[in-house]
Amino acid sequence: MTDSKTIVVGITGGIAAYKAVGVVRLLVKAGHDVHVVPTEAALRFVGLPTWEAISRNSVTASLYDDVAAVRHVALGQAADLIVVAPATANSLAKLAAGLADDLLGTTVLASRAPLVVAPAMHTEMWSNPATRANVATLRERGVVVVGPGSGALTGTDVGEGRMSEPDEIVAAALRVLEASAAPAVPARDLDGLRVVVSAGGTREPLDPVRFLGNRSSGKQGVAFARAALARGAQVTLVAAHLAGEVDVAGLAVIDVTTASEMALAVESAAEIADVVVMAAAVADYRPASVSETKIKKDAEGDELTLRLVKNPDILAGLAAARRPGQTVVGFAAETAPTRDELLELGRTKATRKGADLLVVNLVGWAAGFGSDDNTVVVLDGAGSVVAESAGSKRAVADAVLDEVVRVRGGGGAGVGGAGEPSPSA
Ligand code: CTP
Repeated sequence: MTDSKTIVVGITGGIAAYKAVGVVRLLVKAGHDVHVVPTEAALRFVGLPTWEAISRNSVTASLYDDVAAVRHVALGQAADLIVVAPATANSLAKLAAGLADDLLGTTVLASRAPLVVAPAMHTEMWSNPATRANVATLRERGVVVVGPGSGALTGTDVGEGRMSEPDEIVAAALRVLEASAAPAVPARDLDGLRVVVSAGGTREPLDPVRFLGNRSSGKQGVAFARAALARGAQVTLVAAHLAGEVDVAGLAVIDVTTASEMALAVESAAEIADVVVMAAAVADYRPASVSETKIKKDAEGDELTLRLVKNPDILAGLAAARRPGQTVVGFAAETAPTRDELLELGRTKATRKGADLLVVNLVGWAAGFGSDDNTVVVLDGAGSVVAESAGSKRAVADAVLDEVVRVRGGGGAGVGGAGEPSPSA
């Protein structure tokens, strides 16, 4: 069991409050000192005795109980972590605005602890621009947003807005707790190393005005580049159509368009690199021929067939050709209905690609691309899980770089005896 920490669980007024009983129970079971702070509205859904029984601590929703103990400040100051589950649209708005008109509001404002929120509301409320803006504000401040998922809502409604399951919320909360225990100043554990990161999505031209592309924003790759720089590395970013400008002091950026251009740029930078991270979404196929002129409907008729040819697999090539002391990290973007199936796809890819580490993440219509957060499982070259990380893309990048440092035997330039091609390469 980990050290016991003080965790405040804020409960706000939504039907998912009944599921939050499970959150409190799991945190208590994990050995933590849990203080529940419900809002008055939350108590309409689940009563005070339940919270006291489950948390094993006294509970009040009022600012005016126990005033001598300055409860509204004391709880916030004592907290190592605050979790708000469920977080209604109203409570997200209050948190974003910094309102402190109840015990939960004052506790959050009086605290320096990390904050995890698990939104729960109807789909319309979740997708309302006001809620989106509040969530974006909270994320910018470093608040970790867990979910919501899709599924049955109150009444007969079904859609996005359903609070994540208690075990997911608790797993995210415990990861935040663990990360907050780490030193705030990044270790210079990549000092003097040369790191190449690919990011974004390649585009394969069809004609002068059209291309085949993908939805990668490049945010995860850019987060890797920033994290590696902060840890002392010299970083080259091979960038394919990033969603935003990258203006980072000290970062060398090479812009590319197609998979072939990316292969050239990455392979040449990799010749002197100690670490290569292939975070880019590389097109697996390109049009067999590129039309010199715009493809015209009149000439093609009702159906247009494209013939595609396979692009070289850059990652597999890098892994096969890696020098002793060089560490190669790949990604596996997968669509899978369950974690087990996701891991199985990851394992197969890990052994096929032969990289030292493979970062597996779920992608889909609503997951992965473009978002500011990511959830990944890191596999070694044989496909065994060596780490898991969830949170901001920067936090995920740092967690993966921790594994890179571990694989290399710890420390910066001059260490790195590991990274010998593994038997699976
Ligand atoms: N990759 C690469 N060259 C390619 C395709 C992919 O280097 N032509 C790299 C990606 O940068 C990523 C890893 O391989 O690090 C896995 O990419 P992914 O799209 O998940 O897998 P694929 O190999 O394309 O396999 P599939 O699309 O069949 O899942």
